[in-house]
Amino acid sequence: MTDSTRWTNERFGGYHLRHPLEDDVDLTRVGPTQPCGEYMRRFWFPVAMTEQLGERPVPIRILGEDLVIFRDLSGVIGLLHRHCSHRRMSLEYGRIEQNGIRCAYHGWQFDVDGNILDTPGEPAESTIKDKICHGAYPVREFKGLVFAYMGPPDKKPSFPILDSFNIDGHEMIPYSIHSPCNWLQESENSMDPFHSVFLHGRVNGPQFPGLEHFVALPVVEYFKRPEGFVYSHCRRQGDLIMMRFHDHITPTMAQNGGMFQKLDGPKVFGRTSLTKWVTPIDDTNSRKFGWRHFNDADEVLRQGDKTGVGWEKVDFYGQTAHRTEKERLESPGDWEAWTSQGPINIHQREYLGTTDEGVSLLRTKLKKDIRAVQRGKAVSHPVGSEDSPFHTYGGDTVLRLPEDSSDDNGLMRHAQSEVARIYFAADQYEEDDRRDFIAHEIRKHFGDEALTGAKD
Ligand code: FES
Ligand SMILES: [Fe+2]
Repeated sequence: MTDSTRWTNERFGGYHLRHPLEDDVDLTRVGPTQPCGEYMRRFWFPVAMTEQLGERPVPIRILGEDLVIFRDLSGVIGLLHRHCSHRRMSLEYGRIEQNGIRCAYHGWQFDVDGNILDTPGEPAESTIKDKICHGAYPVREFKGLVFAYMGPPDKKPSFPILDSFNIDGHEMIPYSIHSPCNWLQESENSMDPFHSVFLHGRVNGPQFPGLEHFVALPVVEYFKRPEGFVYSHCRRQGDLIMMRFHDHITPTMAQNGGMFQKLDGPKVFGRTSLTKWVTPIDDTNSRKFGWRHFNDADEVLRQGDKTGVGWEKVDFYGQTAHRTEKERLESPGDWEAWTSQGPINIHQREYLGTTDEGVSLLRTKLKKDIRAVQRGKAVSHPVGSEDSPFHTYGGDTVLRLPEDSSDDNGLMRHAQSEVARIYFAADQYEEDDRRDFIAHEIRKHFGDEALTGAKD
């Protein structure tokens, strides 16, 4: 059955779709007072790169709020509402001081926590500065990114440390890229493993060295977790089956598998090459923040480029606006896919298929969590510390398993589920012990030959 306001089944029937439809307001809008905006304000988000913080305060916009970020002369980072509490001059013109920032208009001085330290034009006995605080948010600097929490102070979760923040042998380089569209479009791309078959393969030719096998339709399994999703997509090459695990921690944090690898033999619990968040700037702009993980052991094709990672750049195909128009038109990448859906995608005009299971799962969880926040309930956060980090799974495992000519997709589906079960069972261990346990359990379940020749 078709909904005549949303779709037509009449040839040359574009006329039937002339009426504009609204976006999914509760799911997409992030400003203060919006249901999704309130939900977003329960999480830590990256809001800046530390390389942005120099001699001048930097105006930024996050979740529809105009803010200013700076590092004061004592080295502490402040994130304040942009407009001065006195008569609203922008603090982007302020002077950075030993403690906090001083407004250029009448000299009021604000500490990084919003305390007003000085109102020099007021009489000495004035108590103005004791009566109010300027709007401020807590921040945490971590490996070249600045994270902020913009929600109710009494609901602030601890800053989560993930296992992927400290992987042996990984050098993490921060980056950030703007997209002129709603945050959800960019974030959904990370829950859509099928786009790789077409966007990065069949339609435009291979775009990622080492991942040429992505042209085959994968067998995909999604695993629901309290904090989001883990999913895996699996393809066969000869007697190898290549599984790539992804993390999606709601709202927008995602990790995928390795980059510039050579998957020509068994491999156990490869780790991610990318940790990333989509931070909403406002309803129609978003900014990717993340780290590229460089890893000499896995990136054997040596095509990564550390100098190509930073502000408005990352070293893999099609992630920014900064290619020539000809290049972008001839071989569009991820950036063109999510931005060209429009400033805010109209879900009512979509017609989802079987390949969109990940997108549907993500939207369903987001809506459920948004409603929970509306009802005053708590939502799940990743909880992890340096001593006991939150476990993630993004990365590749390759097994040697001969083809099952009667039902090879069934074999791959079973193998993925078993490997995921083993990954989750290994949560009781850390680092090398975790990988050893996974290898041991894979051998036990699939036989020694499944990992013959695997590198340690
Ligand atoms: S407007 Fe900032 S001190 Fe007056
Ligand atoms: Fe992609």
